[in-house]
Amino acid sequence: MEVIIQPDPEAVQSLALEVIRRQLERKRDSVLGLATGATMEGLYEAIVEQDLDLSGVTSFNLDEYLGLAPDHPCSYRSYMQRHLFQFVELKEVHLLDGSVTHYEAHCAEYEEKIAACGGIDLQLLGLGVDGHIAFNEPGSSLASRTRVKTLTPITRNSNARHFPPGAEVPPHVLTMGLGTIMDTRCCLLLAYGEAKAGAVRDMVEGPVSARCPASVLQMHPRCLTVLDEAAAGGLEFRDYYRYAYQNRIQEKF
Ligand code: GLP
Repeated sequence: MEVIIQPDPEAVQSLALEVIRRQLERKRDSVLGLATGATMEGLYEAIVEQDLDLSGVTSFNLDEYLGLAPDHPCSYRSYMQRHLFQFVELKEVHLLDGSVTHYEAHCAEYEEKIAACGGIDLQLLGLGVDGHIAFNEPGSSLASRTRVKTLTPITRNSNARHFPPGAEVPPHVLTMGLGTIMDTRCCLLLAYGEAKAGAVRDMVEGPVSARCPASVLQMHPRCLTVLDEAAAGGLEFRDYYRYAYQNRIQEKF
């Protein structure tokens, strides 16, 4: 895992934008894995502002709330529409549908679609305060595939800020698995703010364990973790990561 520490969220976002730009320069018809959450909002804004050409791109979103129709304002499809899809044209977009009842078959089909597209070239990831990526909560199998999961109270509380006051955060979700994420060719994880510092520490320097699902990324052959100073605050080796980045002998991304 390569850890890059930037002074603030804006710098994290511009570096992430650069990684995506280079990916598209290498392969115009890249398959991108997209994420949601507050972390991604500035990045999508920058993609729109810079008018990045995504017309060759096929995308797959990580997760969705079970029980929310695609056009529900709090669904992740609506989020993507609001922040990216209404402004930028992609070749093909794929999202899990939270309104299905046959969710096991739906999840299996999603895996098949990813495989049929040749797999995901670059996967964007945020990080939950409890160490989840996508919606793989603590205890998730490190080999899991796309499936239904039950959210922890921590995640439901934390995500309540994205719902209207008094509205219930759905208890269940559909999510790509940790095994699905590990199959992607490159991961780009972004985190900022002090609230993420504990999860970042466990992910980067803790043991690889289902206790912190994101720690499985230590086993990913190509994972770039870009943090702001606040999110990097708990890392024991942060001076080393800074030194290594300043003295890197080649651009890995
Ligand atoms: C949500 C999403 C994740 C996201 C994470 C962080 O629950 N399912 O994909 O990365 O939590 O969210 P935020 O960026 O709002 O802090």
